[in-house]
Amino acid sequence: MTGLSTSRAGRCSVGLVWAQAHGGVIGVGGKLPWHLPEDLALFRDLTMGSTVVMGRRTWESLPERFRPLPGRTNVVLTSDPEWSGEGARRASCVADVLGEHDSVWVIGGASVYAAFLPHADRLVVTDVDVLVQGDAWAPAIGPEWRRAARAPEAGWSSSTTGLRYAVNEYMRAAAGRAE
Ligand SMILES: NC(=O)c1ccc[n+]([C@@H]2O[C@H](COP(=O)([O-])OP(=O)(O)OC[C@H]3O[C@@H](n4cnc5c(N)ncnc54)[C@H](OP(=O)(O)O)[C@@H]3O)[C@@H](O)[C@H]2O)c1
Repeated sequence: MTGLSTSRAGRCSVGLVWAQAHGGVIGVGGKLPWHLPEDLALFRDLTMGSTVVMGRRTWESLPERFRPLPGRTNVVLTSDPEWSGEGARRASCVADVLGEHDSVWVIGGASVYAAFLPHADRLVVTDVDVLVQGDAWAPAIGPEWRRAARAPEAGWSSSTTGLRYAVNEYMRAAAGRAE
């Protein structure tokens, strides 16, 4: 799977990347409910050198030593005009992000995935074969999306942690995203 590229001049190319447990759980208590180093490596490879967009709560959930995410332009969405974070650029709405960047990876959390999904071209979703309680969920992937790839094609990969996981890539089934 390759990085995002700019598709047309003046149009921001938008990818969403997340990991989810059964039922679409992506977080609990402001944290990831699992530890999956292989998925962290995928996330790093996918987003390195790019602009990453996250909600203010996801920014706050990052351990301080990983903040800002190195090698990436970190953009944090917040409605607070006074907000600042060392190494982060503030954005006040989705339209500002789309207008100011050629290409972004949206990295969470739940509210930000939901806000950017209508504008997205590509989704990279890691299914984690685990049942956990959650308080944050991935957006529903509707019929406008088709799964272009799954790794592995059948069954699961095994993590060094013992967890099983699979990585899915979705593309829009037809033209027609919100501008
Ligand atoms: N599994 C995964 O792949 C993954 C990835 C990332 C995060 N997560 C998890 O997701 C959870 C956090 O998700 P969340 O939904 O609670 O928080 P979030 O989306 O990270 O942040 C929410 C905040 O972002 C700002 N925001 C969101 N949409 C906005 C918009 N359209 N315009 C302006 N500001 C906007 C608001 O900040 P203000 O309140 O400051 O206005 C809002 O309170 C955590 O549990 C985290 O661990 C999971």
